[in-house]
Amino acid sequence: MIKAKNFGSVTIQPGRESIFKTTTDCLQACAALAIPIFEAEKPGYAGEALPGDMITAIGQAIALYEFEGKPGTLVQANGCGGTQRVILLGLGKRSEFKPEQLRWAGSVLARHLRKIKLTSAVFYPAGLKGADWPILAGALGEGFALGDFKFIPYKTEKKTHAEEKAAVTPLTLTICCPDKFTTETVRRLLAEKSIITSAANFARTVACHPGNILTPDSLTAVARTVAKANRLLFSVINYQTAKALGMGGLCAVGAGSATPPALIILEYVPRGSPVRHPKTVAVVGKAVTFDTGGISIKPAADMGNMKYDKCGGTVVLGIMQAVAQLKLSHRVIGLIPTAENTLDSRAYRPGDILHMYNGKTVDVTNTDAEGRLILADAMAYACAKYKPQTLIEMSTLTGGVVVALGGVFAGLMAGNDQLATELIHAGEITGERLWRLPLDKAYRKLLDSPHADMVNSGGREAHPIQGGMFLSEFVTAGVAWAHLDIAGVSDPKKDDRWWIGDNASGFGVRLVVEYLQRLGSK
Ligand code: BES
Ligand code: MN
Ligand code: ZN
Repeated sequence: MIKAKNFGSVTIQPGRESIFKTTTDCLQACAALAIPIFEAEKPGYAGEALPGDMITAIGQAIALYEFEGKPGTLVQANGCGGTQRVILLGLGKRSEFKPEQLRWAGSVLARHLRKIKLTSAVFYPAGLKGADWPILAGALGEGFALGDFKFIPYKTEKKTHAEEKAAVTPLTLTICCPDKFTTETVRRLLAEKSIITSAANFARTVACHPGNILTPDSLTAVARTVAKANRLLFSVINYQTAKALGMGGLCAVGAGSATPPALIILEYVPRGSPVRHPKTVAVVGKAVTFDTGGISIKPAADMGNMKYDKCGGTVVLGIMQAVAQLKLSHRVIGLIPTAENTLDSRAYRPGDILHMYNGKTVDVTNTDAEGRLILADAMAYACAKYKPQTLIEMSTLTGGVVVALGGVFAGLMAGNDQLATELIHAGEITGERLWRLPLDKAYRKLLDSPHADMVNSGGREAHPIQGGMFLSEFVTAGVAWAHLDIAGVSDPKKDDRWWIGDNASGFGVRLVVEYLQRLGSK
């Protein structure tokens, strides 16, 4: 849990992390018993440990409220078969069932508990037990923790002591397991999910802070605290050092801001012999604390959402926290290039030619294509300094990917098929899904420049792919690398997967941690 602490001017609220418990006794006294139900099915709870009069009462409640069991819906029946409350959680059609439906159910359950001012519930998995029960229980727990996320540090309304206390009281979810063995497996899995969802919620919290408060400086302070709390190595390449190192992209993008740019680096080294952790994975995230577009200024409408242009970087912070707490078995380096893209007399301009860290030159055609410039230096530096086998980069890079994929899939571009396959797989498991776009050298001519090695933007044609092609110029040959364009999935959207809440989503934390956990077993 990240305790309330002052990070420069940024206060990260105390967490309200959910507490997970397991039991084999489903009928323990509880204020709320939550039970899943599939769409258009009668409560087929025969053979379950539920008392007959409860099953009858549930059937009556379904009829009374005309409850259909659609995913993301619930109905509460009071005084059912001796319990105070039974909450039926809709899972949608059995034929379309996936763990994602349980995340959704967990999320609506958590929010419902807050609404009725309860802090605990017991979940009984009627009709769900079986070999994959631990995975399903894990998904339920994840949804429960992510659904309870709130971001309210700037609400100044006075609260009573009781309200204040209720707001930070964690919710407890007790999950009934069919037997002792399963209980133990589920308990272990939930302990992991608790670490991972806390890290995702932490990334969301940092991402939600506005651009006037969360600047490159205060982000650096937050990262330092994360590193300290999790015993990660920590270093910062400041503006002066970046200049001296020849990081022309990072320095140009940050030049117009009163707060200078920086490259934040967190390093996790597993304990024990390096022979047992042969891989180094670099994880790079774009943290533009606010993107005005610079001299190529953006239109005013919705520009405020550009405070979410740091989501790649905040996701890297979350990943590093989780990696340390899970004690994963590979070396992981988190790199966060951070800058504010804004305008003043020192801001970089269209037509400028930049000398990048790896020696290549860039002809700036649009100062609003800034993300790739700060990432290019961070990626080239990561390759030169840490010699990773794998590099995963995440950024809210293009509006084009929002148009193409919306809030459901993130765009994946990868120079390595195996890495692409493994990331897509991790995405399907976590529900943070990826759709691959081609990185083909036929697109390279879109970046041709008469003045330098490449332009930073060749116009609207295949724009997300231009971003990927541009970044590929800054990865050392032989490094398996992937670019995740998370522009569409990071900030609030209307799609179904936004059971996650109307705030920053933390997309990428669960996905990349899943990938790294699987790598650990190889
Ligand atoms: N941060 C934006 C991309 C973005 C757009 C993220 C919408 C989330 C929602 C990025 O820096 C950007 O401005 N991209 C431009 C580049 C173009 C002007 C060359 C784009 O994609 O429109
Ligand atoms: Mn931009
Ligand atoms: Zn941007």
